[in-house]
Amino acid sequence: MNILEIIEKKRDKKELTKEEIEYFIEGYTSDKIADYQASALIMAIYLNGMTKQETTNLTIAMANSGEKLDLSTLNEIIVDKHSTGGVGDKVSLILLPLVASLGIPVAKMSGRGLGFTGGTVDKLESIPGYITSIDIHNFIKNVEKIGISMISQTLNLAPADKKIYSLRDSISCVESIPLIASSIMSKKIASGAQKIVLDVTCGAGAFMNSQDRAEELAREMIEIGKLANKETVCVLTNMDEPLGYAIGNSLEVIEAIQFLNGNMPEDLKEVVLELGAYMIKLADKGENIEENKSKMLKNIENGKGFEKFLQLVENQSGDISYIKDTNQFPKAKYIEKVYSHISGYIKSMDAKEIGKIVCDLGAGRIKKEDDIDDSVGVILNKKVSDKVENNEELVTIYANSQEKLNEAKAKIQEVIKIQKEKVSKPKMILEVID
Ligand code: URA
Repeated sequence: MNILEIIEKKRDKKELTKEEIEYFIEGYTSDKIADYQASALIMAIYLNGMTKQETTNLTIAMANSGEKLDLSTLNEIIVDKHSTGGVGDKVSLILLPLVASLGIPVAKMSGRGLGFTGGTVDKLESIPGYITSIDIHNFIKNVEKIGISMISQTLNLAPADKKIYSLRDSISCVESIPLIASSIMSKKIASGAQKIVLDVTCGAGAFMNSQDRAEELAREMIEIGKLANKETVCVLTNMDEPLGYAIGNSLEVIEAIQFLNGNMPEDLKEVVLELGAYMIKLADKGENIEENKSKMLKNIENGKGFEKFLQLVENQSGDISYIKDTNQFPKAKYIEKVYSHISGYIKSMDAKEIGKIVCDLGAGRIKKEDDIDDSVGVILNKKVSDKVENNEELVTIYANSQEKLNEAKAKIQEVIKIQKEKVSKPKMILEVID
């Protein structure tokens, strides 16, 4: 067996065997297969797809590519959460401390930005001092001590995914059901949680643009979960416009802090509460979804959710003075408002295009080794269905170069569509599949 034959087979739309998939994953993880050959195979998978059997074999091979966490010492049901990616998606920053504040342990390994979407790790690292790369021993110790730890994929868990994830990002091979399903489920299998809640995003700013494709992805991940003996629930959520108002690393952290202090944008609130309600249910801490939502809202009101977020940041060496006073976060050099040229109702704000604008401002990576700029981004002043007057503020742009600011200003006008007729509020929770 050799990698050329495997590439050739997938290029010619043939099914790969379990052994061939294992050969590729082992070879690529141990650097015996070069990036350019892996790129060719990943592109062939992207273009020609995989059968369910191939996707399952790929997931298992990726999950077995490194260590597997044993969280049984925590003596609790550990429920993990993951999103298939979005724009303005700061859900994990809010939801996980909130769930932990209810006494449900959270051991979360997050990702970096991928394509035009943001990543929780990049957001956490915009908090000065916050350490995302810690060893397994300390990760588990953190969960035992304060009930939550949120880290990056630095442990030797699913290292094949780590390599393939950044490769896909740099060769435009992200939006693929087998590649997303295997990426997410291999990490979830390796990271030791017994149960999983997945936010399967759907719409312009998601990797799955239609509900049918999102359902297909959800069912594939649920099936893999079953085979791995991990109960999995998928919540399909709307990602046509960015979630909440802030897009950009530290801007989103600030919005998450405001949320935990009771200032909750409606769309973000719906998504956080729905996902959280299922996490609580799977943890066997509440059967009733509506009651579970009330429990979370109570911990926003009494400040316990925010307190847990402070504890999390402090425990991972972050400077909590920034969390207590968000004015301390470094500000972008240029902060400029963009105004509407007409009056009417916001028809759409294409999340993918806005995600790309924010990436171009410096919040995301073009090459996998690129540094990111924490302070840049966009804050929306309106959401879809809102009324807007002529000359009223639409968004504020945060940039660190005049040139990038000008580019963003020109582009953002084009991606916000306004119409004379009223627009109804978008439905956020599209479906729950289990
Ligand atoms: N999140 C992941 O972890 N992997 C993907 O492929 C997409 C979103």
